Amino acid sequence: MGDVFLFGATSMLGWSILRAGDATEVVAFCNDNTRHRPAGVSRAIDLDDGPAVAALFARERPRLVINCAGVCDVGTCEESPEFARTVNVEGTRNLLTHAPAETRIVHCSSDHVFGGGAGPYREDSPTAPISVYGRTRVEAEQLVVARAHTLVIRSGLWIGPSATGQIGHLDWLRDRHRRGLPMTIVSDEHRSAVWAEDAARRVWELARSSIVGIRHITATRAVSRPELARYLDRHFAIGATFATESRAERRTPHIGNVELATIHSDALAAPLPSVVPL
Ligand SMILES: NC(=O)c1ccc[n+]([C@@H]2O[C@H](COP(=O)([O-])OP(=O)(O)OC[C@H]3O[C@@H](n4cnc5c(N)ncnc54)[C@H](OP(=O)(O)O)[C@@H]3O)[C@@H](O)[C@H]2O)c1
Repeated sequence: MGDVFLFGATSMLGWSILRAGDATEVVAFCNDNTRHRPAGVSRAIDLDDGPAVAALFARERPRLVINCAGVCDVGTCEESPEFARTVNVEGTRNLLTHAPAETRIVHCSSDHVFGGGAGPYREDSPTAPISVYGRTRVEAEQLVVARAHTLVIRSGLWIGPSATGQIGHLDWLRDRHRRGLPMTIVSDEHRSAVWAEDAARRVWELARSSIVGIRHITATRAVSRPELARYLDRHFAIGATFATESRAERRTPHIGNVELATIHSDALAAPLPSVVPL
């Protein structure tokens, strides 16, 4: 029986972390109402259901928790801010409240805690979210770092396959192209985009270390969304065509130039290769 709990295992990140982990060690959870439960995801829980989370940890005492659960769609968070806050903040609070004190908790957060225009952003840069999603991430992070034995990992875009074949930038491109649906990509957003396999390995290395606080996963360079889409289109021979629009033209908030940097210089702070090479 594994003693590492992975929450949000069906997310883009969770799915990559699950596949990069040791199957005998990891117990993978999805949301209770998930419609698509991939092989390897054996359990379900709603982290915003306090009594259920309390009951889980009254029965089981994992050594490590990796948390990738959340409402991560920026548009959904704008439309339903209470729902976003309930899952992203109160769900995290439930986890922190009920997990055994000795359990190490690694919480996957996002570059959406920054807004762009003041980067590169290090772990000690002031947060400045511009969306409901970003604000719920900041609030959750504050809860996490206030507890002992915790690590917040912030990253930019992870590029890799998803469990459903429909989420994440790469599967979004492939799936919409396959279905002949229009694609519009924001022109003036720059992010640190890394391969999901590399990033998942880094999460495991950080999770197995005793590092606490906040860590950024950095890339050798930041890339614009159109540059990234063009590269992926070529690299995977997708054949997609897409339009571009500026952030100002988009209905949902988009972060601007948010390149992640770090204050650390150890091996686990080394930048990962950018998805788009120079
Ligand atoms: N996508 C990226 O490139 C990226 C980059 C940097 C950081 N992140 C961070 O990585 C994490 C995952 O992001 P994502 O974009 O991969 O997410 P996502 O695809 O939106 O998936 C969200 C995950 O949370 C689960 N979930 C939703 N509501 C829940 C609840 N009430 N209780 C328990 N689980 C619940 C979902 O389960 P079901 O599938 O079962 O509904 C799913 O596994 C987030 O912390 C995000 O901030 C993502």
